[in-house]
Amino acid sequence: MEKGVKNMRLIIKNGNVVKGNAVQKEDVYVENGRIVKPEKSFGADRIIDASGLYVMRGLVDMHVHLREPGFEYKEDIASGTKAAVKGGFTAVCCMPNTKPAADNPAVITYIKARAAEADNCRVYPIGAITKAQKGGEITEMFALKRAGAIALSDDGYPVSDGNIMRLALEYAKTAEIPLICHEEDTAIAAGGVVNEGYNATIAGLRGISSVAESAMIARDVLLAESLNTRVHIAHVSTKSGLEIIRRAKKRRVAVTCETCPHYFCANDSLILSFDTNTKVNPPLRSEEDRLAVVEAIKDGTVDAIVTDHAPHHKNDKSVEYNYAANGISGLETAFALSYTFLVKNGGIDIITLVRLMSENPAKILGLDKDAEYADAADLTVVDLNKKYKISVKDFVSKGKNSPFDGLEVYGEVRYTIIGGKIKYEAKS
Ligand code: DOR
Ligand code: ZN
Repeated sequence: MEKGVKNMRLIIKNGNVVKGNAVQKEDVYVENGRIVKPEKSFGADRIIDASGLYVMRGLVDMHVHLREPGFEYKEDIASGTKAAVKGGFTAVCCMPNTKPAADNPAVITYIKARAAEADNCRVYPIGAITKAQKGGEITEMFALKRAGAIALSDDGYPVSDGNIMRLALEYAKTAEIPLICHEEDTAIAAGGVVNEGYNATIAGLRGISSVAESAMIARDVLLAESLNTRVHIAHVSTKSGLEIIRRAKKRRVAVTCETCPHYFCANDSLILSFDTNTKVNPPLRSEEDRLAVVEAIKDGTVDAIVTDHAPHHKNDKSVEYNYAANGISGLETAFALSYTFLVKNGGIDIITLVRLMSENPAKILGLDKDAEYADAADLTVVDLNKKYKISVKDFVSKGKNSPFDGLEVYGEVRYTIIGGKIKYEAKS
């Protein structure tokens, strides 16, 4: 992705640098795309005054939908990655539910080429587990990996057949590629559109039991355990699902999991507005589930925060609740929502938040062992004191579908730096 790298020398001065387990006031020197420790004078091309700002390793979002190829009217790789850098993300992993699905090396190669052209952030494509994501026939995992797939997932859809998942876990173990599981027992979900419970009843909308998620999590955790392999669980939203993962981790099962801001910032009372921007899969859950997600973030059960950025066109959402598309456009709000709810008002420290939004996802994907990524000066500079209202009108993503429009938050991304190059700079 580094096109025409100039030997740009950059100093980020006086920032609060989040590094390992500490926050230290120091200057960061960047040369040749890397962080350096200059011995003598350092003639900088650009000096960023980061007084009062926080400087952290660039955020990594291991779960986004960039919609290209096939659904460019919702988002494309250029617009999605522009939204990513505005949101402070230096790397994103895009899910394979495109048209055609990313179930073959050609689509992976295409995504990488388009990402290089867009030249915004690093893009690591995720290949499909099954052909056309239909859950029937396993993809050519080695070929997908060779083409550049960083992980495999049928996200958007579950792998309903337990034996196919068992085989997929075995093959993925041999291919040494992580599997990311979208956990949804569609028989239990039974065509529901919101979380099952009080609010669904009041709204008169069909509910999805939390067991639709947790039963499938249990299956995949047990499969991974029996095969002595690893598994990563996508967008966990339920107390019962988290409890299964917590217990499995205690038995040393190699399970990791992620959640999304909307599962710890919101609950299913939002559906009473009938705003289709609250429709997402898995659905916004009960307050009890939301509190369990916060607890699981605190005790380390949750490894990563991801956006599940799912941009949709206005026409896909401007229909009756039952017919609206699932998904929230999340790249431009994730950092501020996470900071506001978890750090400012939630008792988690900024170091832990950076671990959840950068370090851990990189580790799960093996990026920490990728020399190009590991040594790169990928940095996000934020103003944690900046208070503002989320406004979907300001989104650069094509997807304006957010239930958080108008919400007051803290934490503004000021600069996103990738490989030493400033890829995003806030206007004022
Ligand atoms: O809400 C969702 N939207 N959940 C998914 O699993 C898929 C995603 C999409 O692709 O729109
Ligand atoms: Zn999913």
